[in-house]
Amino acid sequence: MSEACGVDFGTSNSTMGWSRQGQPALLTLEDGKQTLPSVVFFNADENEFSYGRAALSTYLSGYEGRLMRSLKSLLGSGMIDGQTEVGGRALPFRALLTQFIGELKQRGERAAGRRFDSVVLGRPVYFVDDNAAADQLAQDTLEEIARAVGFKEIAFQYEPIAAAFDYESTIDREELVLIADIGGGTSDFSLVRLSPQRAALTERRDDILATGGVHIGGTDFDKYLSLANVMPLLGLGSQLNSNSEVPSSYYFNLATWHTINQIYTRKAWQQLQDVYREVRERDKFARLLDLVEQRAGHWLALQVESAKIGLSEAASFTLELDRLRPAASLQLVRNDFDSSIDHLVETVEQTVTKLLADAGVGADKIDTVFFTGGSSGVHLLRHRIAALVPQARQVEGDLFGSIGAGLALDAARKFS
Ligand SMILES: Nc1ncnc2c1ncn2[C@@H]1O[C@H](COP(=O)(O)OP(=O)(O)OP(=O)(O)O)[C@@H](O)[C@H]1O
Ligand SMILES: [Mg+2]
Repeated sequence: MSEACGVDFGTSNSTMGWSRQGQPALLTLEDGKQTLPSVVFFNADENEFSYGRAALSTYLSGYEGRLMRSLKSLLGSGMIDGQTEVGGRALPFRALLTQFIGELKQRGERAAGRRFDSVVLGRPVYFVDDNAAADQLAQDTLEEIARAVGFKEIAFQYEPIAAAFDYESTIDREELVLIADIGGGTSDFSLVRLSPQRAALTERRDDILATGGVHIGGTDFDKYLSLANVMPLLGLGSQLNSNSEVPSSYYFNLATWHTINQIYTRKAWQQLQDVYREVRERDKFARLLDLVEQRAGHWLALQVESAKIGLSEAASFTLELDRLRPAASLQLVRNDFDSSIDHLVETVEQTVTKLLADAGVGADKIDTVFFTGGSSGVHLLRHRIAALVPQARQVEGDLFGSIGAGLALDAARKFS
C-alpha cells in the first residue's frame, strides 16, 4: 500500500489515484464517480461554493454567481494574478484554483479514509508553448498551491508518462509505444519502451525515447467550432455603419472557456452598448446582449461542447439553442467541425512528427499507439495521428482515468 497519491489536475476533469494491491487506484470523488469536473461555481445568492457536476448544475439552474472552468489554462498565463467579480465580491483566480485543488484532496482523502502528505502531480509536457520561463512559472504556481492545501512532499510527472505506466500495467511483453493523451487543454505525447520487467525498475530514463506536446485540446476545438458556426448567430462577422466589422474580441472571449467571464464586466457592457448603436444586423447583436445579461456564456459553451461530442458519435448533430432570444436551431455535420479544427489538427500532427524525429525512431518501429484523454474521441484527430504510425496497433485506454491511475503507480514507486 502506497503512502502517496497521484493527482491529475486536468483542464476539464480531475482524478486522484492511490495504489493498493489488488484494488483499483482511482478514488471516488463525486456521486460514485472517479472524475471531478474541474469546475468551481460561486453562488452569490447563497454565498457558497460548489464543485464539479454540482457546480455546473447550480450554475445552469440560474443562480446569480460565477462559474469557472478551465482553471488550469490560467497557469503560466498573465491571468493567474487576475480575478473575476460578482455582486461586489472579488474572486481571485489563484484562490479559486487553491480551493478546487483543496477540495479534490479532501474528497480523495475521504474516499481513501486517510490523509496524504506526499503526491505526484501530473503536468503537461508544456503548460506554455515556446516559453520556458512561463512554463516553469506554471509548475511553480501549481506546486505552491499543492503546498497551500497541505501536501508536504511534491513531485511532478509528465501526463503522457503517467499514461504509459498505466498501459504498462496491462501488457505481458515488451512494446515500443506512442502514447497520445489528448485532453481538454493540451495534446501530450511520449515514445516509450514498456514491459512488465521494466516496470519494476526505478530509473526509466533510458525507456523514455522522447516526449512532446502542444497547447491544443478539446477546449480549443470547442472554441473554433463556436467561432465558425455559433458566434455568427450572435453577430460575429457582421457590419457596422462605418463598414468595418463588429470587433471580434468579444466573441473570442466568449468562445474561450477561461475568458468567458471577461464579458460580464461593467466596462465590457458599456462597450457592447456602444457597438449596438453602430451595428447593422441588430437582431444578431441583440442576442449577444441578451446572452450577456443572462450570464449564459458558459451555457452556450456547454452546448457547443455537447455538439462536438455529438459529432464524434454521429455524423450530424442538431444544436437547439433555446436560451438565445430569438432561439436558434443549428444543423451541424461532422465536416463543419472537421474544417473548423483542421489547422489545430495539423499542428498536433507536426508535434508527433517532430517527436518521432527527436527520438530518431522510424514510424514503422512503433508497435502500439495508445490513446487516452477525452479528446482522443475526435475522429479527425485520432485518424490523423494513427496515420502517422500506420503499422502500429491502436489501443484505447480509460479516456478519463489513465493519467490518474499512472500517477498513482508513479507515486507508489517514488515515495516507497
Ligand atoms: N466523445 C468525445 N469526443 C470528443 N471529445 C470529447 C469526448 N468526450 C469528452 N471530450 C472532450 O475531452 C476533453 C476532456 O478530456 P480530459 O478529461 O481527458 O481532459 P483533461 O485531462 O481535463 O485536460 P488536460 O489533460 O488537457 O489538462 C473536453 O474538451 C471534452 O469536451
Ligand atoms: Mg488530462
